[in-house]
Amino acid sequence: MTECGLFACVTPKQFDAVKYRADFPALHQEINGAPLVFLDSAASAQKPKQVLEALTRLYANNYANVHRGVYTLSQKATDAFERARETVRRFIHAKSSDEIIFTRGATESINLVAHSWGRAFLKRGDEVLITELEHHANIVPWQMLEKEIGIVLKPVRIEDNGDVLAQNVIAAITPNTKLISIAHVSNALGTILPVEEIIAAAKAKNITVLLDGCQAISHIAVDVQALGCDFYVFSSHKLYGPTGVGVLWGKKELLNKMPPYQTGGDMIEVVSFKGTTFKQTPHRFEAGTPAIAEVVGFASAIEYVSTIGLDRIAGYEHELLEYATAELSKIKGLRIIGTAPNKASIISFVMDHAHPHDIGTILDGYGIAVRAGHHCAQPLMERLGVVATTRASFAFYNTCDDVDALVAGIKKVQEIFK
Ligand code: ALA
Repeated sequence: MTECGLFACVTPKQFDAVKYRADFPALHQEINGAPLVFLDSAASAQKPKQVLEALTRLYANNYANVHRGVYTLSQKATDAFERARETVRRFIHAKSSDEIIFTRGATESINLVAHSWGRAFLKRGDEVLITELEHHANIVPWQMLEKEIGIVLKPVRIEDNGDVLAQNVIAAITPNTKLISIAHVSNALGTILPVEEIIAAAKAKNITVLLDGCQAISHIAVDVQALGCDFYVFSSHKLYGPTGVGVLWGKKELLNKMPPYQTGGDMIEVVSFKGTTFKQTPHRFEAGTPAIAEVVGFASAIEYVSTIGLDRIAGYEHELLEYATAELSKIKGLRIIGTAPNKASIISFVMDHAHPHDIGTILDGYGIAVRAGHHCAQPLMERLGVVATTRASFAFYNTCDDVDALVAGIKKVQEIFK
C-alpha cells in the first residue's frame, strides 16, 4: 500500500488493509483486463471467505428447517440460527435477542414498521418527519400511508452541502409529529446525521424514532440503547454478509404491541377456524421459512468485523475518505456533491461535460467499479440540482492505491470528454 502524501494513510502496522483484503476472494480478479478496484461497497459489500465458509458449512453439515423439527439436524440448524440472533444483539447492544427480527433486508424492515406500527398507531393528520436526503425505502412506505390513512409526510430541508442540521429537524416538530424516520448516514452523500440530538428532542416529546442504519452499520459502532431510538434497521449484505437478510431492531414493549406484518407458518400460537393467536416478538414477525444459511452467514460476517473492530475500521476509512476527498478536490472540472463536515466514507461527484453513467462505464473499462445514477434518492438529486452523480464508496479493504486508480481513471475520462 502506498503512502498517501499529506494525508498519510494509517500505516499497515496500525491497520493492515492489505491483510484483510486477502480474505475477500472477489477482490482478486481482473475486470476488462485490469485489476478490480471495487468502490461500490455502499451498494453491496464484498464477502470474506469466512462468510463463504460459514454458508458452505451450514449447508454441508447442519442444514434443515428451523423451529420445526424434533430431530437432531433441525435442532442444530435452529441453534445456529438463534445463536445468530444473539450475535446481532451483541453487535448492536440490544437489551434482548427477542428484539432482533430477521427480515429480507432493510427495505422490508421499514415496510414492516410502516405496515404494522404505522397502520396500528398512526391516524389521519399525524405527521411523519423525514429529511430530503432519504433513500426511497424511507420515503415510499410513508407515502403509502399518506394515501391509505391520510398521514402527513414532512421532508425536512437539508443544507446545500448535504448536511442535516438537528435544529431544522427539531424545528419541524409539531404537536402532530408521531414519528421521525431518518437515515443515520446518507447512502448518496455520506453525511452522518446528528441523530443523538434529534433523538433527545424527539424523546422529550414522546415521538417515536426510526433510524435507517443501512450505511452506518458498517462504518459506525452502533449501540441502540445508547442512541435511545425505537427502531433501527439495516441489511446484512452491506455488512459483508449474504444478501436476503435484514434486521429490524425494535424495543420489545413496542414490538409486542404491534400486529403481525405477514402471516403464516412459525408466527402463530394456535390456529383454528374460529381464530388465530400469534407468538410474541421476534417470531410473530417472521412468517414462513427464513433465510437460514444466510442468517448464519451474517453472524459470521459480524464476528469477522468485530474481530477487526468497528472503531478501528471507522478510523481507517476516515483516513481513506480524507485522502480521496483531497485528491478528487484537486481535479479541475470535478465537483464533490456532499461536503458535510461529518461524513462516512462515501464520495459523490459530478464532472463537467460527462454524464455520471458515461463516467461509470468508462471507469469500468479500467476495472474500476463505482455507482452512477440517482442512488435511490431522486428527491435528494432534485434538491441539489443534479440529475445524477458518480459515487465512490470505500470499505476497509480499500487502500490509497484504489483512490489513486480512481483519480487516474477520472483523468482518462476527462481526456475523452475534453
Ligand atoms: N442502497 C444501495 C445504494 O446506496 C443499493 O447503492
